[in-house]
Amino acid sequence: MEIDVFTLFPQAFAWFERQRHVTNAIARGHRLGYVNYRDHTPLNAGQVDDMPFGGGAGMVLRVDVVEAALRARYGVDPVSLAADRRVVALTPSGRLLDDAFVDELAQEQRLTLLSGRYEGFDQRVLDHFVSDELSIGRYVLAGGELAAMVVCDAVLRKLPGSLGHEHSVLEESFSQALEGAPEYPHYTRPAEHRGWTVPEVLLSGHHAKIREWRREQSRARAASAHPGDTEPTGGPLP
Ligand code: ADE
Repeated sequence: MEIDVFTLFPQAFAWFERQRHVTNAIARGHRLGYVNYRDHTPLNAGQVDDMPFGGGAGMVLRVDVVEAALRARYGVDPVSLAADRRVVALTPSGRLLDDAFVDELAQEQRLTLLSGRYEGFDQRVLDHFVSDELSIGRYVLAGGELAAMVVCDAVLRKLPGSLGHEHSVLEESFSQALEGAPEYPHYTRPAEHRGWTVPEVLLSGHHAKIREWRREQSRARAASAHPGDTEPTGGPLP
């Protein structure tokens, strides 16, 4: 998989790039690259944003700047890009990221993430260059970099070989294997700490019973989930 992150702050990803599942993915031939909008702006003095027409607070990332950066990277009119790859703009009002959306993105060969800053993108970027708008939650971040890292983290760890243990991706919170429910509780040594014990069944060595217990726990957690946690995803804000 090839992921390109468009950002004004590529250096913000330095820590992220050193994480084990990311280095594993890269060692296996996946690619994570960055394009700095500022390196391709057609404007003077590295300008990338401008005041919103109609007034209002904040600055807006310009459509000509985003176009120049996309053209520089892909060598085509970015209007035609979304036919060939997912071009995902990170916006607070986009489709909410969940496990199904991550699975969808992890199946792509090529993925472009556009981070915004300031008040966000000129609407024409969203109307003409992108295939998806993605939100990591209904709150506003100062920029899309953290959201881009969340997406890369969640997607890369799904790729075969990124995690040490393939099973961890198959049976984890919100996966199909758990019918979309949160994961069951985990325990490790010591078996008793301050009188707090581990459920007997986990020490029994009886795999079928353990599986059954975990499934029950997972379902119980889903049933008692906060109502906000079960909000259907996929739609823009009303
Ligand atoms: N950019 C600013 N806030 C965001 C959010 N909540 N999700 C994705 N991108 C964003």
